[in-house]
Amino acid sequence: MSHGFQEINGIMHVDDVPLTRIAEEFGSPAYVYSANVIRAQYEALSGAMKAALPADSQPLLCYACKANSNIAILKLLQSLGSSIEVVSKGELLRALKAGFNPEKIVFEGVGKTREDIEAGIDANVHQFNIESLGELDLINEIAAAKSKNVNVMFRLNPDVGGGAYAKITTGQKGDKFGLSPDKILEGYEQAAALSHVSALGIFIHIGSQISDAQYFHDVFSKLADFVRDLRAQGHDVSRLDIGGGFPIQYKGDEDLLDLETYANAVRDVIYPLGVEIIMEPGRYLVGNAGIILSEVLYVKESHGENFLVIDSSMSELMRPAMYGAWHTIEPVQNRDAAQTQYTVVGPVCESSDIFAKNREMPAMKTGDLVVIYSTGAYGFCMASNYNTRLRPPEILVDGDEVAVIRPRETYEDIIDIESIPGWLK
Ligand code: LLP
Repeated sequence: MSHGFQEINGIMHVDDVPLTRIAEEFGSPAYVYSANVIRAQYEALSGAMKAALPADSQPLLCYACKANSNIAILKLLQSLGSSIEVVSKGELLRALKAGFNPEKIVFEGVGKTREDIEAGIDANVHQFNIESLGELDLINEIAAAKSKNVNVMFRLNPDVGGGAYAKITTGQKGDKFGLSPDKILEGYEQAAALSHVSALGIFIHIGSQISDAQYFHDVFSKLADFVRDLRAQGHDVSRLDIGGGFPIQYKGDEDLLDLETYANAVRDVIYPLGVEIIMEPGRYLVGNAGIILSEVLYVKESHGENFLVIDSSMSELMRPAMYGAWHTIEPVQNRDAAQTQYTVVGPVCESSDIFAKNREMPAMKTGDLVVIYSTGAYGFCMASNYNTRLRPPEILVDGDEVAVIRPRETYEDIIDIESIPGWLK
């Protein structure tokens, strides 16, 4: 499987650059991203929407930057015409630094703090997506103090789940996200009585890695019914934010969402409502654009099982340990070696620090380089320093250009900021 990464003369490359060269120059482990894959993904999604909807009704594509918030990746997407969705003051600061138009930024989040809200209002963001009615009062209070008017959207919990893993569904009863329809009605009434907020519409995001276009169609239909109910009760709905959730390839043989069918569902169900449309793709834009480059530390056999101990771990890539997520793993060189079964593990002291269990792959030995694919989304941004491991560098490749967009952390970075209180010395 290549995901836009290709084998040339027996060696895996990112665009024109062999991964062996990247390992020599920057060491391992390292996150490596392909700018071209990000461009292609952005064009595919925006192209599908352009084909389905008239030019004056194109959605505002707001990249959900929680997926990968490196400032260079943000700049790349901004230069392609993307807008952005943020969920914290930190993400907002990144978005502003990358040059996004603040007035097109969507500020989302289940528990925005006063500091988050103040930063968003100061930046004049496009809208806040609200998840609790208490947030409405707080936004109004802060907006009033700043003499500003703030646009808000209510996040609907439609009580339907979606997505590849139980831990990433967001739209079911019992999920912490959003509000039930009765609470949103209450919210509209509450907002009408407030001086500095305008309730403009509804936001839904029901899960991640959703491949079934019919499923989106059904959720949109439910949303459209709700919009008609709200309007029948005299409420204004001029904007709909239909979230993200678009899938990428992890195994290489999965059936992915047909973008044309998705876009046609937007055209058939959402567009006739005459609203401004917002979308929040995250994983789709960056997921297949990234890999982790690692090195085999040891190969061992124990109780009849072959273990490949590599220099990446759950500290660098949390997804397998956290969700049981599958990531394809391949050698960088010697790709035709005899197929062998390996359990691929990291060095961290946790039994869940496993990338793959009894997986068939070409035989490898100590010092060989390994690629873990599809790690451009929810990879580095979820990395930690667990076991006092340094977070790896992030490297962006564009044709034959190679840039370190975040250096490997140093022990000084992570140890020197701690201090021993005087009474312990
Ligand atoms: N909008 C909101 C409000 C979200 O919470 C998310 C993702 C997105 C948009 C983008 O969703 P996407 O298009 O990427 O599916 N860490 C998990 C995924 C968590 C998704 C969180 N929210 C993983 O590694 O699979």
